[in-house]
Amino acid sequence: MPSLPRPNLTIASLLALFTHLLLPQTPATAVQVCGIVSCPGSPTNDLSLSPPLVQFPFWLNRQRQSPRCGYQGFDLSCTPGGDTLLQLPSSGEFSVKSINYYSTQSITLADPDGCFPRRLLGNFSLTGSAFRPLIPRRFTFLNCSYGADRSSGTSQGMPATLVPCLSEGNYTVMSVPTRYYSEGSYPCEELATVVVPLPWPFWSDVEDVISLTWDVPDCGSCRKRGGLCGYKSVNGTEVGCSNVPGTGLPRSAKYGVVLGVGIPGLLCVIGLASFVFGKIKAHRRPTRPNAADVSNLIAAQSVTISMGLDRPTIESYPKTQLGESRRLPEPNDITCPICLCEYQPKETLRSIPDCNHYFHVDCIDEWLRLNGTCPLCRNSPEDPS
Ligand SMILES: *[C@@H]1O[C@H](CO)[C@@H](O)[C@H](O)[C@H]1NC(C)=O
Ligand SMILES: *[C@@H]1O[C@H](CO)[C@@H](O)[C@H](O)[C@H]1NC(C)=O
Ligand SMILES: *[C@@H]1O[C@H](CO)[C@@H](O)[C@H](O)[C@H]1NC(C)=O
Ligand SMILES: *[C@@H]1O[C@H](CO)[C@@H](O)[C@H](O)[C@H]1NC(C)=O
Repeated sequence: MPSLPRPNLTIASLLALFTHLLLPQTPATAVQVCGIVSCPGSPTNDLSLSPPLVQFPFWLNRQRQSPRCGYQGFDLSCTPGGDTLLQLPSSGEFSVKSINYYSTQSITLADPDGCFPRRLLGNFSLTGSAFRPLIPRRFTFLNCSYGADRSSGTSQGMPATLVPCLSEGNYTVMSVPTRYYSEGSYPCEELATVVVPLPWPFWSDVEDVISLTWDVPDCGSCRKRGGLCGYKSVNGTEVGCSNVPGTGLPRSAKYGVVLGVGIPGLLCVIGLASFVFGKIKAHRRPTRPNAADVSNLIAAQSVTISMGLDRPTIESYPKTQLGESRRLPEPNDITCPICLCEYQPKETLRSIPDCNHYFHVDCIDEWLRLNGTCPLCRNSPEDPS
């Protein structure tokens, strides 16, 4: 006669499973964390632009904080007027407008004198700093001998934009994306061609702010998961992540959760999860960025909303390796619309299904992680419309 299953054993094994899941055998490593601080903010500022929050790897060096609160090269200071300043080793001081600490780590900078193009044409350089441009674009600056009228550039079929802070009297300074510029196409003197770290990929003119990103230390994914990022020990330079939600409950609370919520919860959750998962899958759509999102991103980058696609979705888009002839399967430009570099033989490109626009695989992957739509036509591959 077959023996009946013993219910006590089943509950005991469920309990063991839950204990194992909720109570890690080794405690999470703690990191050294300082408080979040900020400069007072300038009283003349728009009230909606609160001063950027300063936390690891940034720190305020001339104000109260210890160097153990931040990373080398990330020290900020406050002006007497309350603004936040970053000193770049080879180009002087910049005011910090916002800092994005999550996923794509970035910092948005402005010229304290309100004319970033003057800095770009001057000694602007990231040499010796911890930063690189988030979206590098080449622009050519022109000094034209006609009045300051934006239309005088565009009427010749060129997307030139007036640079008001450099234009004066009978001379007008224009910026043109170098991609659209050919020598002699304007009755102007060429000043310089420089790389401009744009804050947003679609901007075709040089604005008052630039955005930079950094690779080390990498706290973005830690913060995105809700963890704390900081030095692992009191005197080392190794950076770690701790307190990711789900591992930080006190021991007694965990037992409470296991016994009180765990067992009935497990059964409910399994049923509910399969139902909800089905619903979510049916309704999931990437969100399109709109003008409001753009200005929010620029004004307050400390609040991030991920609008991008996940890795498996991105990987599912077709890849093409270029041959020696660099010929694309569809008629397409031979420059990557994102980095504006010409495709080279043997490079790997990715195309967006439906619209068949091609990009360098590295460029488009980075883009799609932040935005769910094609950078050229704004088509969302998952959008049936
Ligand atoms: C670069 O220019 C800024 C002002 O535009 C100045 O403060 C800074 O000292 C200059 N740096 C170097 C290395 O010349
Ligand atoms: C543009 O050219 C004029 C005449 O050569 C000169 O006076 C002016 O300073 C130039 N502007 C810039 C920004 O170089
Ligand atoms: C601009 O040009 C006009 C005519 O050539 C001249 O009269 C005027 O003084 C110039 N203005 C400046 C600020 O140089
Ligand atoms: C860091 O501190 C510990 C204990 O305070 C000490 O044993 C160790 O030698 C220190 N390491 C360095 C690189 O200073």
